[in-house]
Amino acid sequence: MIKKTFGERVVLIFRDMGEISTFVLQKWAEIAEWAINRKKDFTVALSGGRTPVQVHRDLALQKNLPWGKTHVLMVDERFVPYDRDENNFRMISESLLRHVDIPARNIHPIITSDQSASDCADKYENHLASFFKLSPGIIPNIDLILLGIGEDGHTASLFPGTASLSETSRLAVAVIPPDTAGTERISLTFPVINNASNVLFLATGESKAGVLREVIMKENGSLPAAMVMPHNSPPVFLVDNDAGALLTGGKR
Ligand code: 6PG
Repeated sequence: MIKKTFGERVVLIFRDMGEISTFVLQKWAEIAEWAINRKKDFTVALSGGRTPVQVHRDLALQKNLPWGKTHVLMVDERFVPYDRDENNFRMISESLLRHVDIPARNIHPIITSDQSASDCADKYENHLASFFKLSPGIIPNIDLILLGIGEDGHTASLFPGTASLSETSRLAVAVIPPDTAGTERISLTFPVINNASNVLFLATGESKAGVLREVIMKENGSLPAAMVMPHNSPPVFLVDNDAGALLTGGKR
């Protein structure tokens, strides 16, 4: 693994997804132990997409993770029923949650059966406020968030050019993505993402090389992934050689 820093951002370049997954498992276990020691539970928010599937499968094989004290939240969701392939919660359930001994009360999906994506976002926001016992205006502090990055620079379901990027108080919003991204979405907002204790980006494949250069080297602030800068600790990008191929320079 090669470590590089570009300003605040840390990039770890691995040989392949297998090495990335091993690293994520180790960080997951460390952060879970730290969080449980500190406040008796561990909260983690997971993204959709293809990249994290192997990590979920590898997590499911770990024998000693504290699932009884782990709460799995959603970073985002597509406004489609659970039985559709595009549903993120379905992917996370099939690759991870069905295979571990996690109590149902510790699983926090974004319910997509409401009339509109906006209603779903409101419901998820209310659920987060209740779960984290938030006073009005308080932003939850999630222990670990796993994010992906789209070739257009989106992360979570925060897409370039959408009003979601300028949300400063809501915890979750509905997002109508650009045509190419298909269905309406529900997403955590930057206030929540940037209040996390740890944020790990996962990106593999040469199709992500260009956008990673834009975000990490050129700090193209118009790209949502470049707007992820948690107050508690800088984002760590876990990439394979192909995705990191254009990240020249940087401090080792
Ligand atoms: C989603 C994700 C999204 C994803 C990126 C990367 O709902 O699709 O939350 O932000 O992380 O689009 O997707 P891949 O991992 O499939 O490249």
